[in-house]
Amino acid sequence: MYIRRDSKAMKSTDSAKCLGSKSLAICCLLLHLLLCIRPAVSQTQSPSRYLHNVDSNNNNNERLHQILKGSGAGSGATQLNWPQPPKQTVPDVKTELAKLNNTYVYQNAWPANNVKLGAVTAVSFDKAGNVVIFHRVDRVWGQTTFDNRNQYQEKYRGPIRESTVLALEPATGKVQYDWGKNFFYMPHGLTVDPEDNVWLTDVAMHQVFKFPPRGGDGKPALTLGDAFQPGSGRKFCKPTSVAVLDNGDFFVADGYCNARILKYSRTGELILFWGQNTFSGISYDVAPQNFFAIPHALTLVPELQLLCAADRENGRVQCFLSSNGTFHSQYHNQLIGDRLFSMAYTPAAGGQLVIVNGPTAELGIHPEHYNEVHGFVLSMRSKQLVSKFGPNNLQFQNPHDVAVTADGNEIYVAELNPMRIHKFVHRSLAKPMSLSASKDSRDSAISQAVGGDQVPAMAVHHPSGKAILVASLMLLFAGSTFALALIFARRRKRVHARSQIYA
Ligand SMILES: *[C@@H]1O[C@H](CO)[C@@H](O)[C@H](O)[C@H]1NC(C)=O
Ligand SMILES: *[C@@H]1O[C@H](CO)[C@@H](O)[C@H](O)[C@H]1NC(C)=O
Repeated sequence: MYIRRDSKAMKSTDSAKCLGSKSLAICCLLLHLLLCIRPAVSQTQSPSRYLHNVDSNNNNNERLHQILKGSGAGSGATQLNWPQPPKQTVPDVKTELAKLNNTYVYQNAWPANNVKLGAVTAVSFDKAGNVVIFHRVDRVWGQTTFDNRNQYQEKYRGPIRESTVLALEPATGKVQYDWGKNFFYMPHGLTVDPEDNVWLTDVAMHQVFKFPPRGGDGKPALTLGDAFQPGSGRKFCKPTSVAVLDNGDFFVADGYCNARILKYSRTGELILFWGQNTFSGISYDVAPQNFFAIPHALTLVPELQLLCAADRENGRVQCFLSSNGTFHSQYHNQLIGDRLFSMAYTPAAGGQLVIVNGPTAELGIHPEHYNEVHGFVLSMRSKQLVSKFGPNNLQFQNPHDVAVTADGNEIYVAELNPMRIHKFVHRSLAKPMSLSASKDSRDSAISQAVGGDQVPAMAVHHPSGKAILVASLMLLFAGSTFALALIFARRRKRVHARSQIYA
């Protein structure tokens, strides 16, 4: 998925001007680009940026639909008045990022198997230490995968026929076992619990499943939510992730539309839930507590009895007491940026969060929100970044989930595109890296222009078409940047920005 940021005032008045001009087609193109690129609004941290009265059922998709229909001002949509940004010094994010050490060495020969993966959405460890991944095989979350009421549109295709769950031997990457055929439609979260049960979420089915160890006989031991029925209450809407306490109580992050976390007893009785939707996902610095713009992944911090959530479009980690859901702390860093896809906890070095972020559409318009896609290691004590990591010390494109061993020595990253599982080993243990390392997983900044959970159509592997596409986009971008600059300069004084999230 990607963020669409929209300015109603800009849209309507400039549309009118466009219609009056000869170059309607060019203007529409520019408008299209405008809508795909974040406007240069710089927001201070302000609770007024977040709607407190948004009914969680009246979710972002409906709002988006209103705006696409041009009815953004009416029908209950709330006008947002952005505060004037103060002049601030622009920290050199790029320089600061370059200063961060790489403490993990990429294992570019891992995994040694011939399995062709689809988009890899989740990674966890089973009790034997195998690296267990969840992938989408031949399915892609695109713009038509769901309608604007979050209903899955491709049920007719039936479930994914091949194995969606693979367990890889950590040393070699050889497949130890696989399962999850003919069941899932759009895999998302996977967590192996302390008893080796496997918890999975499917965003198309809007359900959460607990399977016996290694999938058992292929039938879930526990199912929550109603198949293909998005909703709130006891239904889910694109649930993302599960975390399980030692006593069997578990948490569900739900998810793309409801933006809440629910706690259940080990038998599946609801104990409590919390969280509200942040209308506009954007960190600028951090949103108020308990607001989510997609709780996208969960991890436990047993030492502090915390449950932490990747608050994806707010670019932060929020942690809560696992006993009663009370907010405890949050972690955000400008070097990580405005989108934080997943995190995993390791008690190593006094307690660290290993984090993966995601691409944004800034493309240099907004220097202080310069963004690079990396893995990051954050000390929970100091709240400072300790190091970064990436394939061959370069960037990722669309990392989606991360797992770290308890000793902090190995990190695994699931990536949507390229469709990969990556392994990293701590520098103190790693063999020297091959110098002929390929840089397959890093392309131009253009590939960051879109991205998110759905693999953007333009970023899917079509090597020859891709080059043409990138070239065209660069041309388009160059042309539109000048127009953007002019428009933004005029609009800066009174921006009524809205944000929307495609899912
Ligand atoms: C990076 O590593 C070098 C050498 O190990 C060390 O001196 C330096 O302090 C490290 N920098 C950071 C930001 O941790
Ligand atoms: C939650 O638990 C903490 C510590 O156990 C306690 O201090 C706090 O008052 C509790 N909050 C609620 C709302 O029960």
